[in-house]
Amino acid sequence: MDKKLWKEIDEREPIPAHIKARMEEFVAMGVEVLDDKWIKRPTMIEGIRKAGVINTGVLDAVAAEIKPGMRTSEIDKIVREYTTAHGGICAPYHYMGYPKSVCTSINKEVCHGIPSRLVKIHDGDIINVDCTTILDGYYADASRMFMVGNVSKERKRLVEVAKKCLEIGIAAAQPWTRIGDIGAAIASYAHSMGYSVVKTMGGHGVGLEFHEDPFVCHDATAHTGTLLVPGMVITIEPMINAGRAAVFIDPLNEWTVYTKDKSDSAQWEHTIVITETGNEILTY
Ligand code: MF3
Ligand code: CO
Ligand code: CO
Repeated sequence: MDKKLWKEIDEREPIPAHIKARMEEFVAMGVEVLDDKWIKRPTMIEGIRKAGVINTGVLDAVAAEIKPGMRTSEIDKIVREYTTAHGGICAPYHYMGYPKSVCTSINKEVCHGIPSRLVKIHDGDIINVDCTTILDGYYADASRMFMVGNVSKERKRLVEVAKKCLEIGIAAAQPWTRIGDIGAAIASYAHSMGYSVVKTMGGHGVGLEFHEDPFVCHDATAHTGTLLVPGMVITIEPMINAGRAAVFIDPLNEWTVYTKDKSDSAQWEHTIVITETGNEILTY
């Protein structure tokens, strides 16, 4: 995002006075409140929404083609071609040295799986495809699980519970509540279903950059953490493990995250904007 344009929008579309006043009340009470510059204005939200439309199209294109026997490098190609054909840029490509355009994480891979010619998707696999699109400098980030071929009922349940975790997290993301309320709601449900929640990685502010503040922990304490203010754009992307929560990073590629106990993991992600009455998903 061009810093000059960013400043122009900030001057043209200031944070509404009644919202600013309420933010200051929370600051006075000692609550952590995000810096004004990360509270998105209408022009920015429209930009992120447009990036979200392409990002959703990318995931739909993957959904239409994914099948057993496919290589994850083919998913990378679909993502790259759809994105560029629609005027977007794949944010992962060369982000902090990441080599590909999308993340493809299979079974015990939690996230940041790197597409490869050497990796085939097998019948019965569950795979997360995580896409982030930049359009006109704005970022939208979302991921889905795909159940490929005949998937066991255990894996199906994990994928469905992980999806419900995202929905519960979104429902908890209400204006003037706290970021910890999101993770508290998710973890309580996930644990009740016998699963664990990855704590060391999580959601994030998004829109003007790929990863902005705040960090969105999916296993957190209610009524704690940063205030949720109308205009904040965040991702919610719970990583749910069938076994224990512990993870490790592949020492060879320094990206791919696996469950330590080799249990399966599932994740769904949306980009949402907090509004005055609730929130809105920008990646549908
Ligand atoms: N899309 C991931 C997220 O949800 C980040 C991937 S970073 C990459 O935050 F470099 F691996 F692409
Ligand atoms: Co993502
Ligand atoms: Co994300």
